[in-house]
Amino acid sequence: MTTADSNMELLQAAAEARLRAHAEYSHFKVGAALLTEDGIIVRGCNVENSSFGLTLCAERVAITSAVTEGHLAFQSLAVVTDRQVAPCGACRQVMAEFCEEEFPIFVASADNLGEFKQLSLGELLPERFRL
Ligand code: THU
Repeated sequence: MTTADSNMELLQAAAEARLRAHAEYSHFKVGAALLTEDGIIVRGCNVENSSFGLTLCAERVAITSAVTEGHLAFQSLAVVTDRQVAPCGACRQVMAEFCEEEFPIFVASADNLGEFKQLSLGELLPERFRL
C-alpha cells in the first residue's frame, strides 16, 4: 500500500469513528484515527456529557484506547470533523507525551476527505511541556 493509500485509509477510519460521536450538546462530531507503529488503526470519537466539563475529545479517546491496548508508539493521526480543524491544546499536549515534533496529523472535512491538510505536532505545539 502506498503512503497516500494508507493516509486515505486512516482518514476513512476517522470518518467512520466520527459517526459514533456522542455530541448531544455541541452537535460537533469529531472522529480520530491513530496509526500505531506496528500498523494497527485505533479509533476515537468525542464523548460529551451533560456535565459539560467531562467531555472527552476524539483524539484523546483514540490515544488512551491505544495505550490501553499496549501501543505506545505512533506513526500518524487523522482527525475528521464538519470542516478542517486542528486538535485542541489539551490534545496536543497529550500527543506530545508519546509523539515527536515531526508526528504528522491529517485534518479533513467529512465531506471531502481527499482535500486533507497535513500538520505536524511541532508546528501545533512548538514548546511542549515535558518533565
Ligand atoms: N473536540 C474534539 O473532539 N477534539 C478537539 O480537538 C476539539 C474539540 C470536541 C469536544 C466537544 O465534544 C466538541 O468537539 C466541541 O468542542
